[in-house]
Amino acid sequence: MPKILRKESLIPGRTSKLVIDAPQIAAAAKPGHFVILRVDERGERFPLTIADTDKAAGTITIVYLVLGRSTQLLEELREGQEILDVCGPLGQATKIEKFESPKKVICVGGGTGVAAMHHIAKGHHDAGNYVIACIGARNKDLLLFHKELSLFCDEVLVSTDDGSMGRQGIVTDLVRDRLDTEGENIPEVVAVGPVPMMQAVAELTRGYAVPTTVSLNSLMVDGLGMCGACRVTVDGQMKFTCVDGPEFDGHKVDFAELRTRLASFRTQERLAAENKRCHCFDNVKEVR
Ligand code: NAD
Ligand code: FES
Repeated sequence: MPKILRKESLIPGRTSKLVIDAPQIAAAAKPGHFVILRVDERGERFPLTIADTDKAAGTITIVYLVLGRSTQLLEELREGQEILDVCGPLGQATKIEKFESPKKVICVGGGTGVAAMHHIAKGHHDAGNYVIACIGARNKDLLLFHKELSLFCDEVLVSTDDGSMGRQGIVTDLVRDRLDTEGENIPEVVAVGPVPMMQAVAELTRGYAVPTTVSLNSLMVDGLGMCGACRVTVDGQMKFTCVDGPEFDGHKVDFAELRTRLASFRTQERLAAENKRCHCFDNVKEVR
């Protein structure tokens, strides 16, 4: 079973980073790929985008927001302990095109999504692209991967909702500024983060006719295209996020449907986080 080699609390009680010994996944993983984890035998399977790999060391890095029961269980694991299942790499890798100067790719990350965006931005950098990272968080204490992105991105622009770091406002403000100043030099925007943010980025870039890729965080079960849990509508067609994505053309995603589907299991997620189980919504029993 994959062992946790390093664990770092990035935002105490909220967000942690794990470096996991997973040589086969590390060897095959490319930007955009994700893994599906299971922490205990009765636990759900949940997807996390790979934030980084070290192929020489045989490790992958994941970053998670402690949100529900499964991420709470993951958060309880310590360095040296093993995770029951880490399955991957899954999904389609990011399609990375080499753009000649003066073209610049904008990689947008919001909140926890900044960590997942990091791997994609690195892929663009490795391909020789000029990368502008636009990252946003509610405040400076919630800002992730600023140092890591600064190591290779050509520019790292920061916004915070409260103005405690960088520009006061939301991350789309940064993107709008660069689209205005760079004109036709932006051939692609990539966005990873909360769904409202990805939708806002896509709506913004539509006005500039700039192709935009978003990485969708649908609910998943098998991660192999068989259960249908992760289905989304893109350009009027049903797609499975796990095998057709997770990245799609942001201008063609039905975000309203995605938001509805993501909210479908809120009751069960809340009860699970409270260590309870739902029976047809009217008969809640303790399970442990
Ligand atoms: P958050 O709600 O604190 O938002 C972070 C930043 O995103 C904000 O500071 C703002 O700059 C920007 N933002 C948010 N809403 C926006 C909007 N409507 N318009 C423009 N910009 C907006 O972020 P969080 O609490 O860290 O987000 C967690 C969510 O992100 C979870 O729902 C999680 O599932 C999702 N997530 C998605 C991915 C993915 O692969 N798409 C990866 C990690 C996390
Ligand atoms: Fe089952 Fe995608 S998670 S089809």
